[in-house]
Amino acid sequence: MARITSRVLPIAATAVAIGLLAPLAPAGASTHRAFTPGAPGAGDPYFPDMGNGGYDAQHYSLSVKYDPGTKAIDATAKITARATQNLSRFDFDFLGPLKISKLTVDGRKAAYTRTGAQELVITPDHGIAQGRQFTVDVAYSGVPQLINDPALGISGWIATHDGAVALSQPFGSATWYPVNDTTHDKATYDFTVTVPNGLKVLANGDPAGQRTQGANTTFRWIDRQPTASELVLMAIGNYDVRDTRTSTGLRNITAVDPASVTSPTAADDFNKATADVIDWEQGIYGRFPFSSTGGISVLAPTVGYSLETQTRPVYARRSAGALPSATLLSHELGHQWFGDDATPYVWQHIWLNEGFATYTEWLYSEQHGGQTAQQHFDAAYASSGTDWTGKVADPGRDHIFDDLVYTRAAMTLHQLRKAIGDKAFFALVKAWPAQHRYGNDTTAQFTSFAQRYTHKDLRPLFQTWLYTEGKPKL
Ligand code: TRP
Ligand code: ZN
Repeated sequence: MARITSRVLPIAATAVAIGLLAPLAPAGASTHRAFTPGAPGAGDPYFPDMGNGGYDAQHYSLSVKYDPGTKAIDATAKITARATQNLSRFDFDFLGPLKISKLTVDGRKAAYTRTGAQELVITPDHGIAQGRQFTVDVAYSGVPQLINDPALGISGWIATHDGAVALSQPFGSATWYPVNDTTHDKATYDFTVTVPNGLKVLANGDPAGQRTQGANTTFRWIDRQPTASELVLMAIGNYDVRDTRTSTGLRNITAVDPASVTSPTAADDFNKATADVIDWEQGIYGRFPFSSTGGISVLAPTVGYSLETQTRPVYARRSAGALPSATLLSHELGHQWFGDDATPYVWQHIWLNEGFATYTEWLYSEQHGGQTAQQHFDAAYASSGTDWTGKVADPGRDHIFDDLVYTRAAMTLHQLRKAIGDKAFFALVKAWPAQHRYGNDTTAQFTSFAQRYTHKDLRPLFQTWLYTEGKPKL
């Protein structure tokens, strides 16, 4: 989804752009602008196959029936997109063994092939003119295969002891639906998920009803704010759900897998702890950018991390135990502003997510009677465990979750805070996500944005902390 610009289009072009007027040129016609294939990647240097070019996905309508016995899904995806060039063909990312049974573009059968690791290449019977909106319907089924990347761990559709959870950072959505899997093509979603009676379904956004027919129940969720594919959430299981409001009135839907906790009051405690952290964060970062929040505690022993899925993070637990700490909640919920609302344009800028999420932990502790951010900084500076190799603003493909992207990036933000002062810093942390609302960000945008908050020259600070390897001198 591209943000609406104020560019004024002639009336006919506007009609084409919003799909009212079908352009006449067929593929291959010798018009002044030829119809050509969309690019198979979206230009991310770390992940060149991820995402695609030539169109802008606007909405995904996903319908999934899941059988936890066979672990198979039977699904349809209806994807609405807008051509950003005259398109003769285009790709989605689609991974693994799922079999396609039907594929249409604007209701007409389209040719398709699956090439390389993840490209679903679609050739509609007519070219699609730049600016036109089009719809792709895909029916498919099979057992999704998760990704186990040697450097980045497990992601994708992950079967659990009683259901499944989908985690997709940096990739994984393509293991269960055809997608333009890049951070810079956000879209809205709706989910229609059918599971055996007794199981619950959670997804991004807001619930839109459920219906039981025979042995199955269908849950609907609607995600109305633009969401990056890496942040799409699907959780199916025997959850203990709480649907309440925080004290600021924000809807707060949490779910606890009873197998992930030991306390009998965990479902209520988790809901309350989430509400408290999110309201504290709204005080620092500004109004929560999405229509509801929450969180999910799930037993998923192979995962080993938590994830800031939009509106509702997932806390994957290795065994039954204590609920996630307030510190961990502050990290994942902090990401809702830094990572989810403002999302890196390409993966090399992930420090803008993890640095802020880690700094949120430091601020949480500072404002709740724990160590100050300065003490966290000093401890990290003195620790032999801190990672001084690599560049924070360009860590490399296999290092996007390394310590430097978390700890050293948080230290960078602390140095910035000291340089510009608290008043400017706390104004900046509100303004930055608002400036990039439902959009993308880059390191260069951040450094020039920060410069507006001070007369000091911040270039040496950023040069040292973001772009230079080795332990900085203080
Ligand atoms: N982004 C997650 C967080 O910090 C962590 C994460 C996602 C992760 N995928 C990972 C960590 C893979 C290590 C490996 O909240
Ligand atoms: Zn994080």
